[in-house]
Amino acid sequence: MNRHISMITLVITLILTFCMAATHAANQGPDRIDIYGGRSGKVPFPHAQHQDRINDCNVCHSVFPQETEAIRKMKEKGMLKPKKVMNLQCIKCHKEEKKTGKPHGPVTCSTCHVKS
Ligand code: HEC
Ligand code: HEC
Ligand code: HEC
Repeated sequence: MNRHISMITLVITLILTFCMAATHAANQGPDRIDIYGGRSGKVPFPHAQHQDRINDCNVCHSVFPQETEAIRKMKEKGMLKPKKVMNLQCIKCHKEEKKTGKPHGPVTCSTCHVKS
């Protein structure tokens, strides 16, 4: 009887471990992220909404890794120029979408940056 219980416990533990590993491998990141924006103020960013639309993570993550505060850390190390992501990713795409008349993201300073 006791052996049965410990077998069941073992199996459950293995399943849980597997599930946790699987979720970790597919880390999507938070739905919403406040991107560090220096003195211009943080940039509230709907991450999940962009993932749904864009499909390819590398449209953004070829430039910075899938890590918390990745952009700020890279800027601090001098590996990324301030405003580079903003200009060459965020605003570039929003302007292109605007030109084609599709729904687009903000293109003016204060619609992205929020002073706290
Ligand atoms: C439109 C741009 C964009 C796309 C596309 C995108 N991301 Fe991100 N992602 C970001 C930004 C911006 C951050 C925040 C970086 C920072 O705070 O410096 C981020 C952060 C993350 C983080 C770390 C979050 C944290 O704070 O722990 C993960 C994980 C992540 N993304 C996964 C993904 C995956 C998986 C995909 C594709 C399914 C994806 N992202 C697509 C822009 C994007
Ligand atoms: C589509 C959203 C968006 C718009 C519009 C936008 N920004 Fe940004 N801005 C960002 C993001 C995201 C960052 C952080 C990533 C980076 O530095 O490229 C940033 C970073 C910056 C930084 C660098 C902060 C630092 O200390 O590293 C400055 C300065 C800045 N923005 C000023 C402006 C000004 C001025 C305007 C209007 C002309 C503007 N931004 C419009 C999203 C935006
Ligand atoms: C490849 C294209 C693309 C890139 C890159 C991109 N966006 Fe967007 N973004 C969009 C589109 C399209 C929308 C409009 C979605 C809608 O209204 O349905 C949008 C909407 C937004 C909105 C408004 C969301 C709302 O609920 O009104 C914000 C804020 C935003 N983007 C910020 C950013 C920031 C910050 C970056 C850079 C880290 C970025 N975007 C990069 C395509 C892009």
